[in-house]
Amino acid sequence: MSEKAGPASAASGRSVGGGGAEASGSVDIHHGDNLDVIRGFADGSFTLVYLDPPFNTGRTQERALETARPPREERPGDVVVRRGFHGREYERLKGDLRAYGDRFDDYWGFLEPRLLEAWRLLADDGTLYLHLDYREAHYAKVLLDALVGRERFLNELIWAYDYGAKTRRRWPTKHDTILVYVKDPERYWFDSEAVDREPYMAPGLVTPEKAARGKLPTDVWWHTIVPTTGREKTGYPTQKPEGILRRIVQASSRPGDRVLDFFAGSGTTGAVASALGRHAVLVDDNPEAIAVMSERMPHATVIASGTAQAS
Ligand SMILES: C[S@@+](CC[C@H](N)C(=O)[O-])C[C@H]1O[C@@H](n2cnc3c(N)ncnc32)[C@H](O)[C@@H]1O
Repeated sequence: MSEKAGPASAASGRSVGGGGAEASGSVDIHHGDNLDVIRGFADGSFTLVYLDPPFNTGRTQERALETARPPREERPGDVVVRRGFHGREYERLKGDLRAYGDRFDDYWGFLEPRLLEAWRLLADDGTLYLHLDYREAHYAKVLLDALVGRERFLNELIWAYDYGAKTRRRWPTKHDTILVYVKDPERYWFDSEAVDREPYMAPGLVTPEKAARGKLPTDVWWHTIVPTTGREKTGYPTQKPEGILRRIVQASSRPGDRVLDFFAGSGTTGAVASALGRHAVLVDDNPEAIAVMSERMPHATVIASGTAQAS
């Protein structure tokens, strides 16, 4: 697979108001439970889905209820994922992981139907980024491999930061993990040329031209957390830095493409995607998140749950 995999597909290559990469893309903000909202969206309608789900939110009750709901009717996307790939292996693995306790079972019971929807919504050249912390990343990797197929796994990105108190009883944990899966390993969009470059660690070892251009980021990203003061800070507790999302959006979508984040929080994905000329669709069930996003992206359209149109 070449670094720039697959040409722009006719399906997702729309232009933004004729203005190309410089024009702001549209932003739709949906207020409501993400599962309800995204079930109304059309198959294959997003080139990029970025998800930063909450961990250990104390929603045990709510999630248990959700898991206990009778399963909805199967849709074509489900059949492909569950039967076409590794359905039996996946069910067995899930059973094995239950041994690790209710907490994980509960967490995955919440995430699984949302991941299945995310997969259904991805275009053939689309990419899923799942942002996790060290406590859940390994379980999620094993389960996702079995759910969608290991051959669709593209990368494990490590976002390393260095902030806050450090324990002296073990190695201080200062990284997040982002798992990257592509819908079709032969067709996915990845444009390394579009990605912001970073300084060489030892610029004296390369030519001045190379040093001036900077190097391509690898799968380990050193990046500060959102600065506690400054333009970017919204005050939303789990806000992720724009620099991390910029790389993701630059590499895995084109201007005019549709980008989805249904754990949107402060709307970092939308702010970055829109500035890069992509169309963003954001979902969150927390009124505070909706307020923060509306202020951050005044050009956005806010849609209350239940009034969403299939798009
Ligand atoms: C970790 S935060 C995302 C932070 C975001 N990446 C940012 O940069 O600000 C997770 C978000 O998911 C939202 N959330 C959790 N469960 C949800 C659900 N069932 N439907 C919609 N949003 C949900 C929470 O309200 C929270 O804002």
